[in-house]
Amino acid sequence: MSFKKFYITTPIYYPSGNPHIGHCYTTLACDVVSRYKRMQGYDVMFLTGTDEHGQKIEKKAQEMGVTPKAYVDEYVANFQKLWKRIGITYDRFVRTTDDYHIQSVQNIFKTLYEKGYIYKGEYSGKYCTPCESFWTDSQLVDGKCPDCGREVNEAKEEAYFFKLSAFSDRLEALLSDENRGFLEPKSRVNEMINNFIKPGLEDLCVSRTSFTWGIPVTFDPGHVVYVWIDALSNYITALGYMNDTYNDFDHYWPADVHVMAKEIVRFHSIIWPAMMMALDLPLPQKIYGHGWITFSGTKMGKSTGNVIDPFILADRYGVDALRYHLLREMPFGSDCPFTNEMMLTRVNSDLANDLGNLVSRTVAMVIKYFDGQLPAERKPMPIDDELISMLSALRPYVEHNYESLHISAALTEIFKVISRANKYIDETTPWILAKDESSKARLATVLYRLLDAIRVVSVLLDPVMPNTMPEVWRQIGAAESMTAWDRSSEMNVLSQTCQVFKGDILFPRFDIDKELEALAEIFSSNLAPVSQAEASLAVSERVQSPFKQPIKYDDFAKLDIRVARVVSCQKVPKADKLLDFVLDDGQGQRRVLSGIAEYYSAEELIGKDVLLLANLEPKKIRGIMSHGMILSADTKDGYRLAGVESDSEPGDEVS
Ligand code: MSP
Repeated sequence: MSFKKFYITTPIYYPSGNPHIGHCYTTLACDVVSRYKRMQGYDVMFLTGTDEHGQKIEKKAQEMGVTPKAYVDEYVANFQKLWKRIGITYDRFVRTTDDYHIQSVQNIFKTLYEKGYIYKGEYSGKYCTPCESFWTDSQLVDGKCPDCGREVNEAKEEAYFFKLSAFSDRLEALLSDENRGFLEPKSRVNEMINNFIKPGLEDLCVSRTSFTWGIPVTFDPGHVVYVWIDALSNYITALGYMNDTYNDFDHYWPADVHVMAKEIVRFHSIIWPAMMMALDLPLPQKIYGHGWITFSGTKMGKSTGNVIDPFILADRYGVDALRYHLLREMPFGSDCPFTNEMMLTRVNSDLANDLGNLVSRTVAMVIKYFDGQLPAERKPMPIDDELISMLSALRPYVEHNYESLHISAALTEIFKVISRANKYIDETTPWILAKDESSKARLATVLYRLLDAIRVVSVLLDPVMPNTMPEVWRQIGAAESMTAWDRSSEMNVLSQTCQVFKGDILFPRFDIDKELEALAEIFSSNLAPVSQAEASLAVSERVQSPFKQPIKYDDFAKLDIRVARVVSCQKVPKADKLLDFVLDDGQGQRRVLSGIAEYYSAEELIGKDVLLLANLEPKKIRGIMSHGMILSADTKDGYRLAGVESDSEPGDEVS
């Protein structure tokens, strides 16, 4: 192939739940770099995928009564659906349950064994017998099993080990070689050397016999390959290393960059290069470990429940707004909080005000003053020069920063130029020039400068906002050849007599307070969760399936649902929605409030039988204690009481 190759990877994600904004960040960063590299003419291989084996998934599937494969299939489909929704242009998607991956991992394991880098030993740790799980000391909670809270015992099992210790010196040399720049950001290098390599690397346990959901070791079938050898190998199995499905390993390997967040940098910068050394393969060029998107100070992730639903944000605010915000907000190497308010503020100020306005004002002025087409005469002035020089310097800066995954820095610089262009409008006052026939050439120059500036910034923004930029090009009359990456450092590329076209608003402005309210409502509807974090998790699960998560019969059995008869009923004064009931529950009378006053009159309900959740904690509503909840269906016509068909008596139990 004639083009230079570029190979970039995301981590392979655990499909033990739905993808969230944190996964989006890494995948988007890789997508931007891939798009940019393709625009530069590189032959790109962008790999992502899912890491599907392990005890955790085996257990979750068991709890739900499905096979592990059926369990992961559903979540893997959700990852793929999300990547499609937010415009991820991956070239290959590897699943660790794919046959070719299994075949390769078995070959890799056997090769390492035959070379003497894998040996049989004994694994000892804390074991929880009911859960059939080994735990490390740091995983225990108060010295007990983190899953079930029961006592754990010291136990041993036969296991294979990878001779990680043999590579200490070479790993230290690799990491500390500043010219090589293997691990970025540099701040992580010392952490790896001082915390892990210097204290002495221990050999790594790479097989287990205590669960079966994994890749069997071919020469010792009671063992399955444990976690990291299975997972890390994806970066080469997906290119066809030791399998017959793909055959571009020689072409794409070594990877140009493996991207991930900081918590798995250790595995990628220590275990992975050691595996490559053991297999006599070239080392990847670069490991890039970014920070976390945090939510109220903690990492957003499935296990903490802090999950904001990316489908909802993309639907409400647009895919490009979501892409832009995440990539702009996360500075190189550090953590960054996510809140809906920050996103809306950013979208309003940068996209609607700065970029959106620049395009719409400029196009509108060309239409107003020149009927949509510029005349050819020009009259440049010194005031044009600053904008021109900022634009000319932009491409190398953006390239350098996209290349090194400082995407936020690149975007900051592009938006500085956009602000400068807006200021240029205020300085050159086209509306005053338009009043004077003799200033037409000057006016055309100003508008041309603006159109060409929009062309430059939109080409550089295209990898980040690929859905909107083609519409910008249509509006400013830029032909395809004028929006090639390489032309973003040339000036005066648009035709001198270019024609513009009116278009829709590129980025609408949002009423932040209203949106926050609407989002809060989405998040709190139905499940009445106790925190927004839980609410967003609930939403993210609901979006995939119309039903709530499966529960066990024991959970249902905790609900005490009874038939109850309405003894009396009246409206709650000054409350439009509330009815105040006295119910006969079979044991006596109780007072219950229900928000159905818009759909039933108090009188028509007296004597009726209703279904009552009798053991709901009493709650004060409008100063009145309500002892239970009347069940109704939320229909398209509002609430309709759930009822019982045949004759029943107060106190009859519903099961
Ligand atoms: N399966 C392993 C990785 C194996 S790679 C050979 C794994 N999976 S994961 O599903 O937990 O994904 C972790 C990765 O998802 C992080 O390294 C990061 O790329 C991304 N993120 C998950 N949560 C994130 C944030 N809150 N913020 C930023 N990135 C996050 O670990």
